[in-house]
Amino acid sequence: MQQDKIQELIRKAEEILPNSYAPYSGIHVASAILTDKGNIYQGVNIENASLGLTMCAERTAIFNMVTHGDRKPIIVAIVTDYEEPIPPCGACRQVIAEFNPEATIAMYSTKSKKLVITNLKQLLPTPFKIKQE
Ligand code: THU
Repeated sequence: MQQDKIQELIRKAEEILPNSYAPYSGIHVASAILTDKGNIYQGVNIENASLGLTMCAERTAIFNMVTHGDRKPIIVAIVTDYEEPIPPCGACRQVIAEFNPEATIAMYSTKSKKLVITNLKQLLPTPFKIKQE
């Protein structure tokens, strides 16, 4: 069941992987997110000549989700053409945790065909939080 959804998200991310803008690192990354409402949102990494302005694929996808009025990612797939699956960077972990600290994270490399599945709780056990009413 969850395996089928993960496969669908990997396909959705692979679809947009050619849109990744990564002329500096050459590492192309795409993300696809399934929400509790059953919607899917996509995003790619977008680099910049001012390297620090680079945006990761996962955050692009999360911002796309919020822009469209969805708030709870259930599965976040991260697909890359790098030789190994890419785990979300620290900033992306914190941004995903804002919306679901227990999201499933599926990482896939189109090069090695390796798939790694984990949970954000494992990757970021204590996200920074501010209490909300
Ligand atoms: N990158 C992502 O898109 N997501 C991550 O979680 C890690 C890194 C991108 C940023 C940059 O364009 C390239 O990978 C190399 O760091």
